[in-house]
Amino acid sequence: MSSNKHIHKPLHRAWWKECSVYQIWPASFKDSNDDGIGDIPGIVSKLDYIKKLGVDIIWLCPSYESPQVDMGYDISNYYKIDPRYGTVEDVERLIQGAHQRGMKLLMDLVVNHTSDQHEWFKQSRSSKDNEFRNWYIWKPARYDAQGNRHPPNNWVSHFQGSAWTWDEKTQEYYLHLYAEEQPDLNWEHPPVRKAVHDIMRFWLDKGCDGFRMDVINFISKDPRFPDAPVENPEQIWQWAYCHYANGPRLHEYLQDIGKILREYDAFSVGEMPYVRDPEEVLKAVRYDRNEINMIFQFDHVDIDHGPFDKFVPNPWKLTDLKKMFNSWQTFMYENDGWNALYWENHDQPRCIDRYTSAKPEYTTAAAKMLATVLALMSGTPFIYQGQELGMRNVPKEWGMDEYRDIDCLNHWKGHLAKDPENTEALQVYREQYQRKSRDNARTPMQWSAAAHAGFTSPTVTPWMSVNPNHKTINAEAQLSDPNSVFNYWRTVLGLRKRYLDIFVYGDFVMLDFANEQVFAYTRQFEDQQALVLCNWTDEPVVWDPTAHSVGKVQEVLLNSYGVSEKYQDKHWPLRPYEAAVLLVEPTS
Ligand code: GLC
Ligand code: CA
Repeated sequence: MSSNKHIHKPLHRAWWKECSVYQIWPASFKDSNDDGIGDIPGIVSKLDYIKKLGVDIIWLCPSYESPQVDMGYDISNYYKIDPRYGTVEDVERLIQGAHQRGMKLLMDLVVNHTSDQHEWFKQSRSSKDNEFRNWYIWKPARYDAQGNRHPPNNWVSHFQGSAWTWDEKTQEYYLHLYAEEQPDLNWEHPPVRKAVHDIMRFWLDKGCDGFRMDVINFISKDPRFPDAPVENPEQIWQWAYCHYANGPRLHEYLQDIGKILREYDAFSVGEMPYVRDPEEVLKAVRYDRNEINMIFQFDHVDIDHGPFDKFVPNPWKLTDLKKMFNSWQTFMYENDGWNALYWENHDQPRCIDRYTSAKPEYTTAAAKMLATVLALMSGTPFIYQGQELGMRNVPKEWGMDEYRDIDCLNHWKGHLAKDPENTEALQVYREQYQRKSRDNARTPMQWSAAAHAGFTSPTVTPWMSVNPNHKTINAEAQLSDPNSVFNYWRTVLGLRKRYLDIFVYGDFVMLDFANEQVFAYTRQFEDQQALVLCNWTDEPVVWDPTAHSVGKVQEVLLNSYGVSEKYQDKHWPLRPYEAAVLLVEPTS
């Protein structure tokens, strides 16, 4: 971790550093044809809304043809759009509509694996000498002394069970780090890489402006496929990140991808779970490496996960969170890298519920505080649909029949099968699903107080229930309320743009590190300094600026409760979840 001191190094300027991104989960954004499923024409109809928020880029989650075992992260054809979402022409219209409004559009590039219904895999599994056999990862069985058949190694799948599935026909196992319907591609095989490059060019030629790259650090695996160390002796199948996260040929593959991206001056953000070594990340994102622009790291979203199982509770403190951010912020700044900033996405619960314990009367304040902390750090901010409204986790009363996601449902099935009598453990899991399941992010977008939140027609049953709190939390109400979370986000994103030098190119220094109630940092560019000061609690707190060498306040840029004059005194009172952004005289 770096010292509490300003380092002034000019960061490289780049358009993608100055942008902010809005993420869309197509199934839940807006249904245009009353079949209960969101679709691309629905997104087109809401482009003015997105523009109004003040973002520059839209990231469209997978909309390609897919059997939807994992909501489109199992692609059966990269050149077609799933009929439930529309057509390739609809995507072209979306790109056009975004461009007309000065926004860009990113596609999701899911190329660690395909669907088992992809033609490549159908061919691959058809026989051992099929020309596509090598496109996937096939291995012979292992046999024990009694002659019982076992998978080639002990790797666990992210969606429960072994990461290998036995194929009767060709008498070998294939690897799937996720569901068995999501076989992993074999990137060692040059035609696979060529096929991915072709997919990228196809969409870039259509005017798409770049990609979010799904688990991109998993594409290079240890070619020996060794057993993972047994860290959890209670399980047969073990986490094996050390053998496939940031593997031996990752940067070679990313260099090739980077060449294409540069040709089109395209945007890129790679999803990189389980990165242990920041130097490895730096190789992907350092400015002069020409691989990808930035990555999603997972430290702050794994903060409440149990050691082997995300659905096991894990308590944390504000200083744990501060430590994670501080190290990424300073590391990237000092090493000419770049951060992607996010609280939420389609895999994470809602941030008010995860990161605060705000009482109902303070949830709006908490949403504003989280917006401030995130968007004014060093990096490109990502906002997930509904986050701009302060949307919340699914209701505690919802039964398991309301949940849709394979991750949580497989977990539930697994424990029901293993330990059905242990009602206490099952109850704990139920509570954890409500806190951490991916379903929390996937409920339909809350457009209005009308039936089904205006997401689909009142007479239609949406694919997933709408959160009943849409009566109070919805876009229509927030657009006309100057004090809404939506309008606050607009202000914060506007502020970031107005003081681009400070908030995009400035350094980051965390203040008052040990404080478990206040999250405070400065951003400084040359002789301009801004202080971001947030109360992370339900209680009023008092903060002493002089104890942290804060200079004289020059201007209040933003206060989440409305501007106040109180920053002249020696001690500053902060209201519950209050966020303030001040221009201050630099002291170092
Ligand atoms: C990524 C996606 C997630 C998906 C998984 C497999 O983590 O964000 O939604 O299930 O990859 O593609
Ligand atoms: Ca539809």
